[in-house]
Amino acid sequence: MRLMSASPVKISLTGIKPTGEPHLGNYVGAIKPALRLAEEYEAMYFIADYHALTTVRDPKLLRHYTRSVAATWIAAGLDPDQVVFYRQSDIPEIPELAWILSCLTGKGLMNRAHAYKAARDRNQEAGRADLDAGINMGLYNYPVLMAVDILIMGTDAVPVGRDQMQHVEIAADIAGSFNHVYGDSFRLKIPQAIVPDAETGRTLPGLDGRKMSKSYDNTIPLFCGESQLKKLVRRIPTDSTPVEEPKDPDGSNVFQILEQFATPEIVADTRQRLRAGGMGWGELKNQLFDVLNTQLSPLRERYDALMAPGSELDALLAAGAEKARKRTAPTLEQIRRAIGIN
Ligand code: ADP
Ligand code: TRP
Repeated sequence: MRLMSASPVKISLTGIKPTGEPHLGNYVGAIKPALRLAEEYEAMYFIADYHALTTVRDPKLLRHYTRSVAATWIAAGLDPDQVVFYRQSDIPEIPELAWILSCLTGKGLMNRAHAYKAARDRNQEAGRADLDAGINMGLYNYPVLMAVDILIMGTDAVPVGRDQMQHVEIAADIAGSFNHVYGDSFRLKIPQAIVPDAETGRTLPGLDGRKMSKSYDNTIPLFCGESQLKKLVRRIPTDSTPVEEPKDPDGSNVFQILEQFATPEIVADTRQRLRAGGMGWGELKNQLFDVLNTQLSPLRERYDALMAPGSELDALLAAGAEKARKRTAPTLEQIRRAIGIN
């Protein structure tokens, strides 16, 4: 019981970049585990549309992805009344604090950020003389903006994949710099990354057997229609072991996806049937389709309703922004005072 606990409830923050349609891998690896945080933390979730702007240049597409990501989280079970759920660009305190904190951030720290270094490496490999070619300041400043997302909410814990850990460390560094200079007047909380354990950190394979990812164009969208879902499941690669022969469940991409969605009983039964022989890949795929469709249909219905023009989605986001600004506005006010801006 939250109210009876001796220590104050800690804050977790999850940021989601709207750069594509959410897929099964995002659901298993990010959405479901992040929703569970609300049991233990005062949980905040936001759509990082300013971050998406570093790569998405089509206004219609950015609007669509932003709504799609918001609708996905609600369809997946996020309860906007129980948590704080907002869109980054609705919070004017965020870009303001981004400027302030960039004045306390060493340029060298940004030079060492993985995403920036990777972009330079790609230029080097392509033989370009200018290693910064095609790199915008949004990409370069990305870690500062992300630090603001985290610090402005007084976040304790940030659940992230390994690729985002460095960003949380940078946020902690920047908070340290701020506290060093202004700590007598106002202190920023030092955040910590929570990295998924081996079980929740499992990656779901995609339609070509590699990790399911938008960048590989091998995804099964979470809310594609039923016939599309059936078609995509059929495309998951399998080997040519004949129906009657025993099969290794753990070596099968289809089974690995099934494992994440089916009940433990179905998983155990299917594992046993594959090992015994007599169950073909076609049958396994039919079963995966049934499991996915049964599980996802009600969510898809809710998603479609939220995506319809004029749905309550915009009002939900507006209410979320209001809730979020109850925190960000007073915090920024204190920071402004601490630094001598007012
Ligand atoms: P993508 O690889 O499709 O671009 P993102 O990098 O935007 O996906 O990842 C968003 C979140 O979803 C991250 O927390 C990431 O760890 C998780 N995620 C993405 N793909 C998978 C996958 N195939 N299996 C498990 N988790 C995944
Ligand atoms: N950079 C994160 C990603 O690419 C998204 C993000 C932006 C974020 N701001 C954040 C995540 C703050 C956690 C906390 O996935």
